[in-house]
Amino acid sequence: MELSLGAGAARVHILKGVSLEIAQGEAVGLVGPSGSGKSSLLMVLAGLERADSGRVTVAGQELTGLDEDALARFRGRHVGIVFQAFHLIPTMTAVENVAVPLELAGRNDAFERAAAELAAVGLGHRLDHYPAQLSGGEQQRVAVARALAPEPRILVADEPTGNLDETTGRQIMDLLFAAQARHGSTLVIVTHDPTLARRCDRTVRLRSGVIEPDAALAGTPA
Ligand SMILES: Nc1ncnc2c1ncn2[C@@H]1O[C@H](COP(=O)(O)OP(=O)(O)OP(=O)(O)O)[C@@H](O)[C@H]1O
Ligand SMILES: [Mg+2]
Repeated sequence: MELSLGAGAARVHILKGVSLEIAQGEAVGLVGPSGSGKSSLLMVLAGLERADSGRVTVAGQELTGLDEDALARFRGRHVGIVFQAFHLIPTMTAVENVAVPLELAGRNDAFERAAAELAAVGLGHRLDHYPAQLSGGEQQRVAVARALAPEPRILVADEPTGNLDETTGRQIMDLLFAAQARHGSTLVIVTHDPTLARRCDRTVRLRSGVIEPDAALAGTPA
């Protein structure tokens, strides 16, 4: 699979000949130096960017030929996304941030479900707080609740603990791995944190847009 992004002279060939198979329910840590293409690969898996050639099949769905609307439906149905910078909507309360995507997915119990999901991440007492009124760790827990609420088959997380202290980071990780255990969700986590990478079933290392062969991984700490 190949991915290029940017227009004109700024166009960059980012992912080169990437071939990767991830089993349902597997937890994969995506590691590699800055600029190696980790976030880009995650975007392709999540249906946020389209590969320019090759085939991408996620949750039994071939993504390569889908238009923007179909990709958005695919994400809504199958993918939960957690970013390093949380990406909460600042004008919505915690419970609204979690409930609105559920409403868009057509669930009529969206607010009950959102409140339950926030309680499950320890934020039952912060439902009506706006993101600016929450700590970084609390905002990330809202983002995790939002990603988990639709019980997606695949959860992608881009350095989800990158902006958090160690203890809070571990809580976030526990929530993601609990979803894997409970719903059999597939986890794909970009991380620079060796502890987090070790908790995954395996790591995939990118270098300059190419996946390093397994042999190169043997004995290499994440
Ligand atoms: N929209 C874009 N247009 C052009 N080039 C891009 C675009 N997005 C990313 N790139 C380039 O693609 C390369 C890979 O970027 P990517 O964000 O995937 O790296 P990364 O491995 O996630 O790095 P980091 O660890 O710093 O987050 C970088 O050289 C980056 O400059
Ligand atoms: Mg990145």
